[in-house]
Amino acid sequence: MWHNSENKGIFMSRNEETINYLKTRRSVPLPFLQEPAPTSAELEEILTIGTRVPDHGKIVPWRLISYSGDARVKIGEKLAALALKRNPDMDEDAIKAEKKQFLPAPVTIGVISKTSEHFKVSELEQILSAGAVALNLVHGANALGFGAHWVTRWFAYDDEAAKMLGASEGEQFVAFVHIGTASRRLEERDRPDLKEVVSEWVG
Ligand SMILES: Cc1cc2nc3c(=O)[nH]c(=O)nc-3n(C[C@H](O)[C@H](O)[C@H](O)COP(=O)(O)O)c2cc1C
Repeated sequence: MWHNSENKGIFMSRNEETINYLKTRRSVPLPFLQEPAPTSAELEEILTIGTRVPDHGKIVPWRLISYSGDARVKIGEKLAALALKRNPDMDEDAIKAEKKQFLPAPVTIGVISKTSEHFKVSELEQILSAGAVALNLVHGANALGFGAHWVTRWFAYDDEAAKMLGASEGEQFVAFVHIGTASRRLEERDRPDLKEVVSEWVG
């Protein structure tokens, strides 16, 4: 599959397994992600795959934060408190849901976009590279046999919540990629009709 004589990793031939994976890949929503977690070696592999992305100008305009173990419960408490501050009328069920924002997935990777002025690379291109990291983390998790779910939710856009989760001034979460063992497989969902989204330029 790989032409590796000069370690260039050039994709040489059709790979049915990869094609099938890419044509059938589906997210596994957070409630269906459970233990066992990736081992630390597996997580490092997922992170290595995740951070191997196009990056115009080699700026590395992103960074990652991992959340696991007791941190997930602590985060849930803090998010629930913040949500209640934002909306004092929240009912018990809604508060419970906030407490489970990082559960039951055993590990979550937060992807932070950190853009800077660049003479050639626009802010948009830098943000897109962070998005590529998020999707590659999903692919990496899937490739190692785990399910993954890319979400942002309200706390990606709430300054106080984002700070609590580790973002600094000027940084923006573009993803929380929850990773774990899938407890169920999802049905297919509708996909865009190629005829609707692809056209040929005719001048
Ligand atoms: C930037 C971004 C943010 C998202 N945020 C959320 C979210 O907050 N909550 C949610 O349920 N889904 C969110 N999603 C969608 C999930 O990833 C969703 O499960 C996914 O679109 C399913 O796609 P798939 O069937 O191709 O795996 C987000 C997707 C993207 C690209």
